[in-house]
Amino acid sequence: MKYYITTSIPYVNGPPHIGHAMEFVMADVLARQARQQGETVIFSMGSDEHGGKIAEKAAEQGTTPQEFADKMSATFVALGRKLNISNDRFIRTTDTAHEQRAKLIWKALEKDIYKGQYIGWYCTGDEAFFTETEVKENGGICPNHNRPYDKIEEDNYFFKLSKYTEKVRTAIESGAFTIIPETKRNEIMSLFNEGLDDISISRPKDKISWGIPVPGDAHQTMYVWFEALMNYITVLGYPEHEDFKQFWPANVQIVGKDIIRFHAAIWPAMLLSLELELPKVLYVHGFINVEGRKMSKSLGNFLAPDDIIDKYGADAFRYFFLRHIPSYGDGDFSWATFEAAYNNELANELGNAVQRTAAMIMKYQDGVIGEVLPSEHDIAQYQQALTACKFDRALDEVWAQVRGLNQYIDVEKPWMIAKQDEPDHLREVLAYMVSDLLEIAELLEPFMPETAEKIEAVFRDGTIKPIEGTLFPKFEA
Ligand code: MSP
Repeated sequence: MKYYITTSIPYVNGPPHIGHAMEFVMADVLARQARQQGETVIFSMGSDEHGGKIAEKAAEQGTTPQEFADKMSATFVALGRKLNISNDRFIRTTDTAHEQRAKLIWKALEKDIYKGQYIGWYCTGDEAFFTETEVKENGGICPNHNRPYDKIEEDNYFFKLSKYTEKVRTAIESGAFTIIPETKRNEIMSLFNEGLDDISISRPKDKISWGIPVPGDAHQTMYVWFEALMNYITVLGYPEHEDFKQFWPANVQIVGKDIIRFHAAIWPAMLLSLELELPKVLYVHGFINVEGRKMSKSLGNFLAPDDIIDKYGADAFRYFFLRHIPSYGDGDFSWATFEAAYNNELANELGNAVQRTAAMIMKYQDGVIGEVLPSEHDIAQYQQALTACKFDRALDEVWAQVRGLNQYIDVEKPWMIAKQDEPDHLREVLAYMVSDLLEIAELLEPFMPETAEKIEAVFRDGTIKPIEGTLFPKFEA
C-alpha cells in the first residue's frame, strides 16, 4: 500500500524553532510506523521561500532573496538530519520543477480564477489578507507582528473559493476528509457556517516581485500561500509523474493550528477545482509556549532545537515533544519539566530496565539469553492512539509496559532466584524480560529510533552485547 505524508513547509525568514521541530518529529513517527507496517512511504517536507517576508529579511541582511533562502533552507535540512527525520523528499518552492508545475496548476485552475480589484489589508508578517473588520478589531496593528497592516488597493486575481465551500463542508461532514482533533474540526465548521469569500491569489509585480509570475501576465506574482500549498502535489510530480498518480491523495497532512484555514478550506477547494481527491486526514497540532510564555525573539525566549538536542540527544528531544506536549492542544516547554522527564522516565525507568536486564544476564548466565518467546502484550491501544495522532497516548502505553517490566523485576527478584539455585526458572524470567524489552524497542522505533536500535542491539543475538556508556546519562541539575 502507498502512504503519503507531509508537513507544512516553514518560511525561511528565520532559523527553525522547537515548533517546527515538533511538527517534523510528529510526521516522522507516522512515516516510520507506516514503513514498519510494510507500506511504501513518501514523506515530504520542505521550505516556503517566496513572498514579501523573505524578501524583506534578505534586504535587511544586505543579500538577495535567493542567497538568503539558500542559506536558511539549509538550516531546516540540517535540523531534520540532526533529529533523524526520515523524510524522502525536501521540496523548496524555489526549485525550478516546483515553479514550472505551479504554473501548470495555475492554468488548470483558470476556470475558477478571475481578475478583480482588491481593497483591504495585508500583513507581510502573516503573509495574509485581512478584512476591514479584523483590522478595526485590532486597532490597525497586527497583534502577531506588532506592525501596522498595509492598506491595499490593487488589481489582483481571485480564486472562486465560495464556489467550493459547500463541497468541502460535505467532505468534512461525511468523513471523507477527516480533521483531527475534533475541536479543530468544529472550529473550521463554524468558519464554513459563516461562509467563505473568494480570495485574492496574486499581487502586482511592482509590489511583490519575489515569487512565481502568473502565467500569461508578467505584471502579477502568485500570492505566496496559494503557490506554497501547491507544493504538496508538485513534489510528487503533478500532473504526469507516476508518483503523483500513485501517492495522491495524502494519507496525512500535518499542520499547526494557525494555518488551518489554508489547509481545511483553501487547499481542499483548489484540489476540488483540479478535480483531485482531498487528503484523507488533516492533523492539526497546537502551539508550544516556552516557560509559560509565547515564544518570541523580542521576549528573549526563542528556543533553538539545537540547545536541547546538543545536550540531551535527538531521542530525548523527540520523546519530550511527543509525550509531554499534548497531541490535541497547546503545550509548554520548560527546562524543569524537560529535565524531570529525562531523568525520571528516560534515565530511570527505561534506562534502568535495560541496564538491569543486561547486567543480570551477564552476571548469572555469562551473557547467554535463554529462549525468547514473543511478547503477548495487547498493543491495540497503542495502535489506535497512533491512528488518531495521539502521540502522547501511544507513549503512555509504551511507558505502562516499561513500568510493568520494572515491577515484574522487583516482584520476581531474579537475584533471589539465583541465590535459590533455580537456573531454569531464572533463565525463563530473564528471557521474559528480554522479550518485553524487544517489544518495547519495536514500539519505540517510530518515536526514538536510535534508542530502539541500541536496545535491540543489546538483546537480539542470543547473547548480551553491552551498550557502551549509558542509554541516557544523568546530568547534574
Ligand atoms: N510557510 C507557512 C506554511 C506553508 S504550508 C503550504 C508557515 N510557515 S511557518 O514557518 O510560519 O510555520 C510552519 C509550521 O510551524 C506551522 O505548522 C506552524 O503552525 C508551526 N508553528 C509555528 N510556531 C509554532 C509554535 N510556537 N508551536 C508549534 N508549532 C508552531 O506557516
